[in-house]
Amino acid sequence: MKTIVLDAGKHENIELCANEIKNGNLVAFPTETVYGLGTNALDEKSVTKIFSIKGRPEDNPLIVHVSSIEEVKPLVKAIPEIFGKLTDIYWPGPLTLIMQKSDIIPDNVTAGLKTVAIRMPAHPAALALIRASGSPLAAPSANPSGRPSPTKASHVVNDIGGRIQYILDGGDCDVGIESTVLDVSGDTPKILRPGYVTYDELKDLLENVDIAGTEMASDKDKTEDAATPKSPGMKYRHYAPKAPLTAVIGTPEKTAEYIIARMNDDTAALMFDDFTISHPNIISFGHSEDYSTQASNLFDALRKADDLNVSFIYAQVPPEEGLGLAVANRIKKAAGKKEMIYQ
Ligand code: TXA
Ligand code: MG
Repeated sequence: MKTIVLDAGKHENIELCANEIKNGNLVAFPTETVYGLGTNALDEKSVTKIFSIKGRPEDNPLIVHVSSIEEVKPLVKAIPEIFGKLTDIYWPGPLTLIMQKSDIIPDNVTAGLKTVAIRMPAHPAALALIRASGSPLAAPSANPSGRPSPTKASHVVNDIGGRIQYILDGGDCDVGIESTVLDVSGDTPKILRPGYVTYDELKDLLENVDIAGTEMASDKDKTEDAATPKSPGMKYRHYAPKAPLTAVIGTPEKTAEYIIARMNDDTAALMFDDFTISHPNIISFGHSEDYSTQASNLFDALRKADDLNVSFIYAQVPPEEGLGLAVANRIKKAAGKKEMIYQ
């Protein structure tokens, strides 16, 4: 199959892709976070194709994308009390909400869970595509499972070109890392995946918010998470470049010193702009205190490191505060547990 890259700004291209989805196929499209690989969320057979193209484990559920708040009602058992408070501020935008699912959602979308993840993306092309398709879209990030998420149409071409008919090109994704996943299906809202909407913001709005899998998680949650990970996607090694990545954690001064001492022809590094030295294999991905620039450059920087065909990659990790938490989370996942160095 020859993949065609289409301008996402043109109405006729949205129509073409909506028809592709109505025919039970997949389309890659831009969102404000990362590119998604979408199909009709209410059609079990179409959804199966997502798992096979991505090589995604069947126990990892998908996010259902809607284009309006009204579309949520038939997809869930009940609208949680805090839903309006959250969507008033964050929808459309990078916040995914986990709620009790209704029966119209096929089991493969939620990997058999009783809950469903729903978000309304902010990119105009994503909203137009959902509307024109006439159904909510199940869409994971458009990368093969385990690899860095795509933030440009060219990333999608490299990753799954030849395997889908159309990629809607909406330019570079602004946010650059995936949405915050917030479970609002239980008593206390809980962040299952940190993202652009930060813990601090949500805490200010909701007062009571938990967070899974970091030092902010209560001891009880940590034990529960270890037994049954609530966001199944977070248990896998993720976002990984081909060469092993070492996440170097500590002050920017110390981590820069550690990495610079190890640079050679066979090594690449992702470093903060203000700590970079001149070296062909060093990729700067933002100022040490500018987490939002780091977020938008991170996945592209990991792909650039891959293109250098080196055997080792190092990355400076920002502190786990504000949006730095989500950036640090992605770098640590990309490294896997064994490859973290604390300076
Ligand atoms: O920004 C984003 O969220 C992007 C764009 C395309 O919207 N999508 C995305 O999808 O990152 P994906 O499939 O790469 O990640 C979805 C995450 C996974 O960690 C998955 O386990 C979790 O959401 N998830 C989905 N449904 C869930 C559920 N019912 N309960 C808990 N976690 C769920
Ligand atoms: Mg993903």
